[in-house]
Parts: sequence; structure tokens; C-alpha cells
Amino acid sequence: MEGWVWVCWVISCLLFLSITSSGESTDHNRRTERISGSAGDVLEDDPVGRLKVFIYDLPSKYNKKILQKDPRCLNHMFAAEIFMHKFLLSSQVRTLDPEEADWFYTPVYTTCDLTPNGLPLPFKSPRMMRSAIQLISSRWPFWNRTQGADHFFVVPHDFGACFHYKEQIAIERGILPVLERATLVQTFGQKNHVCLREGSITIPPFAPPQKMQAHLIPADTPRSIFVYFRGLFYDVGNDPEGGYYARGARASVWENFKDNPLFDISTEHPLTYYEDMQRAIFCLCPLGWAPWSPRLVEGVIFGCIPVIIADDIVLPFADAIPWEEIGVFVSEEDVPKLDTILTSISPEVILRKQRLLANPSMKQAMLFPQPVQPGDAFHQILNGLARKLPHGRDVYLKPGEKILNWTAGPVGDLKPW
Ligand SMILES: *[C@@H]1O[C@H](CO)[C@@H](O)[C@H](O)[C@H]1NC(C)=O
Ligand SMILES: *[C@@H]1O[C@H](CO)[C@@H](O)[C@H](O)[C@H]1NC(C)=O
Repeated sequence: MEGWVWVCWVISCLLFLSITSSGESTDHNRRTERISGSAGDVLEDDPVGRLKVFIYDLPSKYNKKILQKDPRCLNHMFAAEIFMHKFLLSSQVRTLDPEEADWFYTPVYTTCDLTPNGLPLPFKSPRMMRSAIQLISSRWPFWNRTQGADHFFVVPHDFGACFHYKEQIAIERGILPVLERATLVQTFGQKNHVCLREGSITIPPFAPPQKMQAHLIPADTPRSIFVYFRGLFYDVGNDPEGGYYARGARASVWENFKDNPLFDISTEHPLTYYEDMQRAIFCLCPLGWAPWSPRLVEGVIFGCIPVIIADDIVLPFADAIPWEEIGVFVSEEDVPKLDTILTSISPEVILRKQRLLANPSMKQAMLFPQPVQPGDAFHQILNGLARKLPHGRDVYLKPGEKILNWTAGPVGDLKPW
């Protein structure tokens, strides 16, 4: 019986939403809503003039040659490390005079090492990173001045600069010791985790912008799916019991809602995956192996309200984007109540979230487009770096002062690359 009450409720809700949104579609200004971030309206900030970045000129074996060996790296979820380099090379914030730089950038592609199936292997990353830092610290005087405190690194791997895809090992390893003082730009974001240091900049995972653009359907298509999700519920290969993968949250979604008519969920990826997201009101973003999810990006792009099920997650550009207003946060232990939680959100609240999602600056901030566009994720990273300026006095070391321990960390990392 209860199930039917929901279905009826949802049908009337969908009807209401499609009437309301088609009525509003004639008036463009009312359909989107300006986003005010916790730090003010910062998504539209222009970083030009607010910071200068010096790019180290490294031998091509650290970047170009690596990419030549495997061009698949350009389409990978971790491709931000490559596109950020390209972006900076022609950016107006670039300076060729290191003496006037606020930030130093080392173009090293540590995650571009893929298996035949396209899975990134992080085993060489620590040695490669150490090698690059050794090189810049011996060739230029700037690293030694601060031991990295005015340097930033893009480390989009699963657990950032912990450089391992298994969480337990990543935690044991910790952040690579030579990066102790550097600012890390990473996709991994979870509070109180050794692989996320305070002051890091959390970014969205790379999702192919052109591919998503190609699947846009007319904006006034009614949203006829209540909750949508496609993806793994169990990782049968690595965790057949289902207790560890996604901390059991995905398994719980499946067990509780596989037969619920409000939930359009399955493991099979249909050809209409992106189109279906545009027909859905809510898109589930449950954590996977690491808490981030490309589904968050997809949800924003396709105007599907992201339902974030990942306790303590730190979302991309959280100091600029009011995620609480845009998405719905459901704690992992409340997954069995997901249906009641979502059906009790009023149509007014849903419409407001949809208007916020329709704001172009919101979508722009989630993407790494080629060519780059104002307000995109590249610019948000620069905004994040600019907000950290001016550097505090403690950034510069006294003559002879040393903080980093070059021999700390796993012995295997100390071997030459
Ligand atoms: C930076 O310090 C290291 C030792 O800590 C030294 O080997 C290196 O030569 C120094 N770099 C420069 C450019 O002086
Ligand atoms: C540096 O780290 C190594 C390995 O953990 C340790 O043996 C050594 O004592 C440390 N050196 C200093 C100066 O702390």
C-alpha cells in the first residue's frame, strides 16, 4: 500500500514540476538563480591580476613523453593534471620571472601510468614526484627558500598525494613527506583523513565536456524519473561480501530500493545514460572506493539534484559553491530512509535547487573545457590559490633552516626514478 502512496505523490509532484518549469521557461531570468558562495559571489571572480605563477621548465620525461606513451591519459578521470599544465602555459597569470611569482608550479604527470584496462597505477608516482622535486630544488633557488610552501602540485589520484588506491595502504603511507609544505590540488576530499591536509584545494574529477555536451536534450523535457543511479553496488572482484566497498552504502541502496518504483537504479550502463540524468529529479552520488564521484559533475551539468551519500566528504571548491543549498546530503546510515527523505522535500525546495543548478557559472566551475572558458575549473583553482595570498611570514625559512626530511617515508620511495 505504502508504495502506491509514494507513486501517486511522485506523479503529482512530477506533474507540478513540469507545469511550473515549462511556465517559467519563457522567462529566462526566473529559471536560474544567482549563486552566493560562503565566501561571497566568488565563482565569477577573475583571477587575472590577483596572482602570478611561475612554471618550472622540466625535462619532457616528466610530462610530454609520458603523455606521448599513452594518450588515453587525456580522457582519464585524472586528466586534470595534464590540462592544468596546458592551461597555465598560455594563461595570463603565468610569469616568466620567478622573482615576481606568488606560486610555483611543477608540471609532473604522476598519474599517467595506465594498465591495459585503463586503471591508473600509482606505484611509480612517489619516486617520480621526489625526482622532480629534487631536480627543481637543485636547479633553482626557490624551493629551498620555502621548502615548497609557495609551490602547488596537482595530485588527482584516488587518495591524492598518499599515492595508493587502497585506502588502508594510502593511510599508512600518508602524504609524501617532501610535499609536507606544498599546497595540494586534489580530487580526494574527506574530513579528518591523513590524505587531505588543511589548505588543500579540492577539485572536481575530470569529466569529458564535449562528450557530455553532445548528449544534451531540450531543456524543457519533463523530469519523469524520481531517483536515478547507474553504477556498481557491489565490487564483486575486490569485495564480494559487500561490507567494505563504499562502506556498504551502495549495497544498502540496492537492498532497500531495487524493487521500489520510485528508484530507477541498476548496474547496467545504458546508451541513454546522460539523457536519462536529464529526465531525473534526483541523481544518487554515493561514495565509491574513494569518496569523490564523477556523478556529482554529471548531476550538475544535467541539472539533476545530486544526492550525496558520503559522510564527511569535502566537495569541490566548497568555499565557493553552496553545496548544501544545491544538493541533498544523506548520511550513510540513513540510506534505508532515502525514499522518505527524498519524498518529503517540498516542490518549492526542489525547484529552488533546480534553479541554482541551472546557473551557468555552477556548471562552468565543474568542467575543464578545451579551449578554456572564464569561470571554469581551471579558473576556480587559480581563485583558490589567489585566496591563499599573501603568503604568511612563516612560508620563508631562515637561512640554513630545514624542515623537510628527505629520507622519511617508505624505503621503496627513496629509490631513483
Ligand atoms: C637546496 O638545498 C639542498 C640541500 O638541502 C642542496 O643540495 C641544493 O644544492 C640547494 N639548492 C640550491 C639551488 O642551492
Ligand atoms: C628522517 O627520517 C628518517 C626515516 O624516518 C629517520 O630515521 C631520521 O631520523 C629522520 N631525520 C631527522 C633529522 O629527523
